[in-house]
Amino acid sequence: MSELRFSAACERNKGPIVEVLSQLLKPQARVLEIGAGTGQHAVHFTEVLPGLDWLATDVPENLAGLNARIAAEAADRLAPAVALDVAHGPWPAGRFDAVYTANTLHIMPFELAPALFAGASQVLDRNGLLICYGPFQDDGAHSAESNRQFDLMLRSRDFAMGIRDTRDLDRIARRHGLIRQADIALPANNRILIFRRAQ
Ligand SMILES: C[S@@+](CC[C@H](N)C(=O)[O-])C[C@H]1O[C@@H](n2cnc3c(N)ncnc32)[C@H](O)[C@@H]1O
Repeated sequence: MSELRFSAACERNKGPIVEVLSQLLKPQARVLEIGAGTGQHAVHFTEVLPGLDWLATDVPENLAGLNARIAAEAADRLAPAVALDVAHGPWPAGRFDAVYTANTLHIMPFELAPALFAGASQVLDRNGLLICYGPFQDDGAHSAESNRQFDLMLRSRDFAMGIRDTRDLDRIARRHGLIRQADIALPANNRILIFRRAQ
């Protein structure tokens, strides 16, 4: 069997993130994850919060690796991940209490941010939460030199990537009935932005 893909960053940030999730989510919450990557977050969060009904998704080309981790480490509590490319959908049927996404907004082209917010709004229950983890900037300013360097590195690798601005995300969110209600600082200059579906 080939080795599972591994993210050292996930190992560092999963503890601080799950602490926030434990305060935000009801014990049996239905959560849809976008861009689940290696699956380390899904595995850890459902280990710490076993009542969560968590559905991991990612683009089709990442599904095999993601499902290999789920099968190896969390087959008892996680359904197999399903394909979801925010650019095309389709979004899973059903309603969710929360949509969770980590480190995706600076990877996918900014043109896809509206699709992510629109899709989340469509699958969220009223008062449901869109929870976005990662680095963000505000009104064109980075909060840390390390984020500025990271942003430069991303843009030099691919011009479509880059740290997103909360002003732009708030505007897109509002268009889809999502209002930012919290901004939580986490280690390494990352944050959790929480948007609530208003209607
Ligand atoms: C930097 S990785 C983050 C993975 C994981 N969430 C984490 O925090 O380690 C970015 C993820 O976004 C996913 N992604 C990129 N474009 C996407 C799209 N159009 N729709 C859905 N997911 C996408 C990638 O496949 C990848 O899993």
